[in-house]
Amino acid sequence: MHPYEKLLLENKAWAAKIKLDDPEYFENLAHIQTPEFLWIGCSDSRVPADRITGTQPGEIFVHRNVANIVVSTDVNLLSALDFAVTNLKVKHVIVCGHYGCSGVMAAASKHDHKPVLNMWLRNIKDVYRLHQQELDAIKDEEQRIDRLTELNVQEQVYNLAKTTIIQRAWKKEKRPDLHGWVYGLKDGIIKPVFEMKVGTHIDPLYEYDNL
Ligand code: CO
Repeated sequence: MHPYEKLLLENKAWAAKIKLDDPEYFENLAHIQTPEFLWIGCSDSRVPADRITGTQPGEIFVHRNVANIVVSTDVNLLSALDFAVTNLKVKHVIVCGHYGCSGVMAAASKHDHKPVLNMWLRNIKDVYRLHQQELDAIKDEEQRIDRLTELNVQEQVYNLAKTTIIQRAWKKEKRPDLHGWVYGLKDGIIKPVFEMKVGTHIDPLYEYDNL
């Protein structure tokens, strides 16, 4: 058996077990999804959004990319954000990074990861530059990368607040709150590191007044 065939076999077993417990389960879920949360996380295979939060299908709308970055020209991210906020009307948007993130480590190094990855990771280098004084003062390398991971999450939450999608929802519907979390691969614990409640003011440069 090929490894991928095991996935299909496991899927059949999973679906059968769920149906046994609750015969209506899939039928009910197929009609509607009303998740309260949008999760923007890292693609890392060790950080599955639903498993680590004990949530079930239907509870979290998920977008994942390398190092959980919110880029203002990323049509993929913006589509997920717009759909979750404007259509699904989520109440919370969570950016969740994780300690030991290869993307963050790669961005902090001087290694050439070739064009596409370099382009993507440049966003984290910019986070480093914004907080260079604080980061350079941390002598222990692991601690410095951990802090960069937290600051990256914080900056990505700011990036969310800079979008008209969030600003419009804040103004018209008083939601969603924005959360920055970091997951620990070593202990499985999520640490909240940053929060922006509805209507938090950011630099006026980024605030639109004709939403
Ligand atoms: Co990662």
